[in-house]
Amino acid sequence: MDLLLSFFFIIITLLFVHVPPSVLAIDDKYEKCSAPFRCGNMDISYPFWGGDREEYCGYPGFKVDCNSGVPEITIADRIYRILEIINPSKKVIVAIQDYWDNNCPSNPGNSPLNFTIFDYSLDTRNITLYYGCPRRSANEQLQVLLLYQFNCSTDETNTDTVNYFFTNNVILSAPIAYLETCTGRNVQVSVFGSTVEYIKRDPVSANANRFLRYGFGLQWKANNDMCVRCEESNGVWI
Ligand SMILES: *[C@@H]1O[C@H](CO)[C@@H](O)[C@H](O)[C@H]1NC(C)=O
Ligand SMILES: *[C@@H]1O[C@H](CO)[C@@H](O)[C@H](O)[C@H]1NC(C)=O
Ligand SMILES: *[C@@H]1O[C@H](CO)[C@@H](O)[C@H](O)[C@H]1NC(C)=O
Repeated sequence: MDLLLSFFFIIITLLFVHVPPSVLAIDDKYEKCSAPFRCGNMDISYPFWGGDREEYCGYPGFKVDCNSGVPEITIADRIYRILEIINPSKKVIVAIQDYWDNNCPSNPGNSPLNFTIFDYSLDTRNITLYYGCPRRSANEQLQVLLLYQFNCSTDETNTDTVNYFFTNNVILSAPIAYLETCTGRNVQVSVFGSTVEYIKRDPVSANANRFLRYGFGLQWKANNDMCVRCEESNGVWI
């Protein structure tokens, strides 16, 4: 009798209490992924992951490293500092980390993207930085160049060369032949269109690393076709 009772008890328990393990796991992940992770004063959620947000809470390529309260993302081998995430419009504002407090990083360079998952936003423009151009005594022909000089540091010691930044419009009127004699690299970096306008208005007060700090916009492509289950779970990737 006792045995029979126990038997029934076990059957009933199995019938009513058993929950498929996969459902449990999804609920668990859902629970974990519904929380953003905080870095500095920014809340980071899908498609981004990192910190205590597991990789399955985000999308590959969207890992954010919280570096002393600064959210950073690595795209095409370049580290970008995340300035703002504008979630409904899938836009993120980034600045090149190497230029954050240095006009002349050891690794100057473009603002490369992984176009599988990102695109430049429509308001992004390029400016060109020329490094190591021979210093010339001021004369009429080079007047325009003087406005666009920048120094690597405030205690500039190398007086043989100068550096310049240009927007595309200015390059058109700049003496290209002279710029071709610059011995450093010339690189294209992305900025907002409004930054280009600011440089054109007031080039003298522009400073390479100051305007690069405004950053530029990216559009991310972790779209909902890639994220059907994510949509079903109200925007949490599981
Ligand atoms: C671009 O991103 C995709 C998705 O994360 C990844 O599979 C691919 O390896 C990335 N490509 C490069 C060049 O980083
Ligand atoms: C800006 O420069 C990037 C490289 O950093 C390049 O991929 C992109 O095509 C350029 N955009 C324009 C409008 O020239
Ligand atoms: C760059 O440094 C030189 C020498 O210290 C200085 O004369 C010049 O005004 C500086 N230029 C800019 C744009 O800061």
